[in-house]
Formats: sequence, structure tokens, C-alpha cells
Amino acid sequence: MKDQAQKLRDIVKNGSKTVKWDITKNSSLAITEEGDKTRVITVTSGKGGVGKTNFTINLGLALAKLGYKVTILDADLGLANIDVIIGLIPQYTLANVIRKEKTLQEIIVEGPRGVKIISGGSGLKEMVNLSESQLIDLVDSLKAIGKSSDFILIDTGAGINNAVLTFVYAATEVILITTPEPTSITDAYAVLKNIVAEDKDKVIRLLINRVESNEEGISIYNKINNASQRFLDISIQKLGYLYDDSIVSKSVKAQQPFLISYPNSLISQGIELIASRLINESNSDVMNVSGLKRFINKLMSKYKI
Ligand SMILES: Nc1ncnc2c1ncn2[C@@H]1O[C@H](COP(=O)(O)OP(=O)(O)O)[C@@H](O)[C@H]1O
Ligand SMILES: [Mg+2]
Repeated sequence: MKDQAQKLRDIVKNGSKTVKWDITKNSSLAITEEGDKTRVITVTSGKGGVGKTNFTINLGLALAKLGYKVTILDADLGLANIDVIIGLIPQYTLANVIRKEKTLQEIIVEGPRGVKIISGGSGLKEMVNLSESQLIDLVDSLKAIGKSSDFILIDTGAGINNAVLTFVYAATEVILITTPEPTSITDAYAVLKNIVAEDKDKVIRLLINRVESNEEGISIYNKINNASQRFLDISIQKLGYLYDDSIVSKSVKAQQPFLISYPNSLISQGIELIASRLINESNSDVMNVSGLKRFINKLMSKYKI
């Protein structure tokens, strides 16, 4: 029998082909009281450059505006850039945590609206290929911040690799982002296929970014959802659409999130609508299966620690 780490490597090696894990059979380990109210949401995509980081930051700000305590973890390891987009210069990053020089709490910086930011460390080759035990240590250290957050948003890199899959599989809520480009859609579907092979019950919501019209958004959602129902036997939830808007690029250049510099823009309103949708949907199943403890436990059980 293959060990869990080998299965992880198989998934990576086989690309969009899926390898079945047995993680779900360990889910009874997962739900405990402590920290249970924290929702851990991983934001990911198949293709890069689809808007994950901008979405995560602005969603965090919208949730904070609604009164929630938010922590954003920049888990695009090696190419982290949340600090750049938000205009912060952190003294320490996850690299210091990995090197055991700092604890996670010590590297947290406060961004706008009290949103806590954990910077990822950029341009560091050592962060790109973290071992399984380093990844586990990293998510394990998240326990400490769980109590002080209503939401932990995890911004990942793109595609199918160890770090991304670790955060995707261990979180109980995933936001998958695609743009209308066919390459982005097929890559999103490949990621979806891998997530579903692991856990059919995972809450996966699709966000279509950079649409030109509502119709375009609806047609892409239908396309992906139809394929998912037909071939993967799951329905993917519709989180929403965001318009293509030059405000995003302008805000990146100004290093200020658009929710702050352009609060009344269509795209800011779109983000706020999505934030309220996430809140309103939380009353049902999501809260039951969510929780930081579950997140950690799933990971631990996966690696049989
Ligand atoms: N809704 C949008 N409208 C226009 N441009 C966008 C939009 N979302 C993202 N972009 C552009 O895409 C670039 C990449 O976004 P980013 O959030 O860094 O993507 P990722 O994190 O997925 O790599 C941004 O700098 C911006 O220029
Ligand atoms: Mg990014």
C-alpha cells in the first residue's frame, strides 16, 4: 500500500489524472469544539494570473467591513505578493517561521481594517519545495491564530502541486477561480477533478473573474457545472462573477486594494455581494464541516501523524 506522501506525489506527477486518497475515512477525527467557528477558505485556480490574490485581499477587507475578524495567509510559497498589493513591507515572512526563527504570531502584520496578514516570503527558493513535514508544521502553527479569527483566507499559487493541494484538501471550503479564457477553464476543471477525487463533499464554489457580461459568467458556470455533474457526479456552487475592470490593475500599481481606493466601483460592490453571500450561506452545512481543528486534523490524518 502506498503511503500518503507517495499518493500526493502521484497526484502531482499525474497532472490532471486523479489519484484516490483515503482521507475521508479519517473525517471522524476532524470535528472538535475548539476553534470550530473559524472558517478556513482556500482560494485557488488551475491557471495562474486569474486574480486570486486581488480577490482574496479584497474579500478579506469586505468581510472585515462586515465586522468579522480576518486573517489572510499568503501561501503562494516562493512567489508571495500580498504584501506588495496591499502596500506593506513586512519585516518577517513565513520563511522565518519555516526556519524556526519566528513564530507565526510574531510575523503577523496588521493591514487595512485590522485584517491580519501573514506574508509568504518571495523569491526564496527554499520556500518552493517545502517538505510534507514543513507543510504540516506550517498549518499546525495556524492553530494559534484560529481563536482570534472568524475567517482564515488562504491565497495559494496556481495549479496542482504539493503545497496547493495540501491547503486545498485540508480546508473544507474552497473558492476556485477561473477567467473566461478556455485555458483557464480547462485548468480549473483539472484542479476540480483532483479535489473531487479526494473529497466529494467538499464545499467548492466557483468564481468567474474578468467577465464581460452576466451572460458570459452564467454560460461559463453552466459549462463547468454541467461537466462536473456529468463526469464527476458533483455540483459546484456558484459564488459569482466579477467584471473585467481596469481599476484592478490601477490599484495594483498604486499598491492599494480597490475596495479602499474605489469603494463604490462595480467590482467593489461585486466583492461585497460575494462576502455577504459567504456569510449567509454559513448557517447551513458549511459551519458544521468547517473549523480550524478539522483543517489541522485532516492534514495530520492524511500524513498519519
Ligand atoms: N477583475 C479584473 N479585471 C481586470 N484585471 C484583473 C481582474 N482581476 C485580476 N486582474 C489582473 O490580473 C492580474 C493578476 O491578478 P492576481 O490577483 O495577482 O492573480 P493571481 O493571484 O491569480 O496570480 C492583476 O494584476 C490585474 O492586472
Ligand atoms: Mg497570486
